[in-house]
Amino acid sequence: MTGKTSGLILGIESSCDETAAAVVRAGSEALSNVVASQMSLHANYGGVVPELASREHLRNIVPVVREAMSRANVTFADLDAVAVTEGPGLAGALLVGITYAKALTLGLDKPLISVNHLEGHIHAVLMETRERSESPLELPLLALVVSGGHTHLYLATHQQGSETWTYRNVGRTVDDAAGEAYDKVAKLLGLGYPGGPWIDALAPHGNTRAVPFTFAEIKHRAPRPGITNKKAPANTEGPHFDFSFSGIKTAVLRYVETHNMRHSIESRRAALAADPTLTPKSGAVIELCDQQTLDLIASFQYAVVGNLQRQTFAAAEALGAHSIVVSGGVAANRELRRRLQAEADRRNLPIAFPSLALSTDNAAMIAAAAWPKLLAQNFASEDLGATPQLRLGQQ
Ligand code: KG4
Ligand code: ZN
Repeated sequence: MTGKTSGLILGIESSCDETAAAVVRAGSEALSNVVASQMSLHANYGGVVPELASREHLRNIVPVVREAMSRANVTFADLDAVAVTEGPGLAGALLVGITYAKALTLGLDKPLISVNHLEGHIHAVLMETRERSESPLELPLLALVVSGGHTHLYLATHQQGSETWTYRNVGRTVDDAAGEAYDKVAKLLGLGYPGGPWIDALAPHGNTRAVPFTFAEIKHRAPRPGITNKKAPANTEGPHFDFSFSGIKTAVLRYVETHNMRHSIESRRAALAADPTLTPKSGAVIELCDQQTLDLIASFQYAVVGNLQRQTFAAAEALGAHSIVVSGGVAANRELRRRLQAEADRRNLPIAFPSLALSTDNAAMIAAAAWPKLLAQNFASEDLGATPQLRLGQQ
């Protein structure tokens, strides 16, 4: 690619419950970033309902793309490429974005670029460091992608002179994702959906040492021939740093049952249902929680963040990472940011987090991740389809 091209990429993301479009210049400047969230729709069901998600994406995709183009003040003719999330995600939801992006590129005669959603989360942070004109993070970097569907550690690098990034998955959850644990525990305690922001807001009011949650070591078993278990730990040479969050969710449930907390949970659930204007940031929410509940929330978060911190820094040390990137919805968590930043400072290791807007799902990250692919002319074929279980890099 020559210097004449402006590197304008329209990114489209529809893998879960956000319909998003953004225009990013040369992987380093977001000219627009529009996100239509379906959160309130799914909140009524306490989780994402795939059929409703697809229908909402269909309704939103055209106005969201239009809005992204208009806020960026560019025309379709100005674009160099259109990038879209190929997976992982919900099949029907992904298909809406992919079909739309394919139709658009066909009509415009522009290249189509497919992006892995997880790679997108990593590039959200890389884009923002360029936006702030900071020097690039030193490679290899260790990326912790921590969201409602994923808790993954990747060792990422690219060779000098090459635009192609390579990723090695060096850890992942063997059961629930960290965000999923936040969501399930919040639901169990009668709080709203998604649970992360509620727990984030309430935890500072409790005692982190009140309930001593522990994490068991994860045993690695050799895979049995012919049996594939998509949730099994990554299985290749070298050390692995896996996570498990279903145990702590069960421990919270057990605590609730043995400490007779049902009544207070039900009255909180009813109070929140009666007043839909209450958000995690409403001061009144704290009144709905007794001290025992606040202590439980604080202890839960303390344990989850501690586990993420231990595994991340153990991996960084063992694998010789020169910097750390944290991304995904849970990267919005204040305690996670504070503790990981403090530990990185202690070790003299550069660490970068996304802005709050780019922590959760968005399309600027998809357009940013597509930039090196545009430089490498790594385009998707016309028969691109949705890959709900798409993996990133070498396992
Ligand atoms: O990246 P994301 O928007 O979607 C997925 O790809 O899953 O992440 C959503 C997840 C939810 O589980 C939500 O509870 C969690 O991110 N989350 C948080 C916070 N904000 C969102 N978890 C902890 N603290 C937060 N402040
Ligand atoms: Zn995500």
